[in-house]
Amino acid sequence: MVKKSELTPTMTIRGVTLFQGLLNRPEQVQILEDLREVARAAPFFRPVTSRGQQMSVRMTSAGAVGWISDRKGYRYQDHHPDGQGWPRIPDSILAVWTRVAPDAREPDSCLVNFYDPDARMGMHQDRDEADLDQPVVSISLGDDALFRIGNLTRGGKTESVWLKSGDALVMGGPARLVFHGIDRIRAGSSQLLPDGGRINLTLRVAR
Ligand code: SIN
Ligand code: MN
Repeated sequence: MVKKSELTPTMTIRGVTLFQGLLNRPEQVQILEDLREVARAAPFFRPVTSRGQQMSVRMTSAGAVGWISDRKGYRYQDHHPDGQGWPRIPDSILAVWTRVAPDAREPDSCLVNFYDPDARMGMHQDRDEADLDQPVVSISLGDDALFRIGNLTRGGKTESVWLKSGDALVMGGPARLVFHGIDRIRAGSSQLLPDGGRINLTLRVAR
């Protein structure tokens, strides 16, 4: 198969490819505008774990299915907790997937995580998807976040990198199941979001 032309990553850490500064300011602003529409149709909610613990991030989704967690556990489902279907993934976001993962199937899920300055995300794998040959693409907007990359099993040495507004990264191939998480947010490091904070978009082929 002829490979479509691929961008060169700015950095690769443990097989995770980073595209730092991929999105210019107008592209970031366009995505943000499109996300406002998404959030109007599918308002942010604060998920709880099956043990009833509140997660510190607020979430919503776009696409055919969205990732949710509640007292029944976590899963992909085709509707928001309020009952309505998820809005479609905006073209401005799909375009990023096409740039960094041109050979992959089209994503059917875009998780939108909002981090206030105190929010974090514990180390975890993305492994609820049916086809693990398809990559995960993540886009950062707003305040800087310290992203930690571990191993294919829990524990062991890790490496960290600050993700900035407009950065994208791909977890694919041998790094598809790498443990990762967000240790902290650098409050006030970006002016993109009017009230501060950080948005992470995680695009996946879930089904
Ligand atoms: C996640 O892995 O769920 C989020 C990663 C990030 O916020 O950059
Ligand atoms: Mn993840």
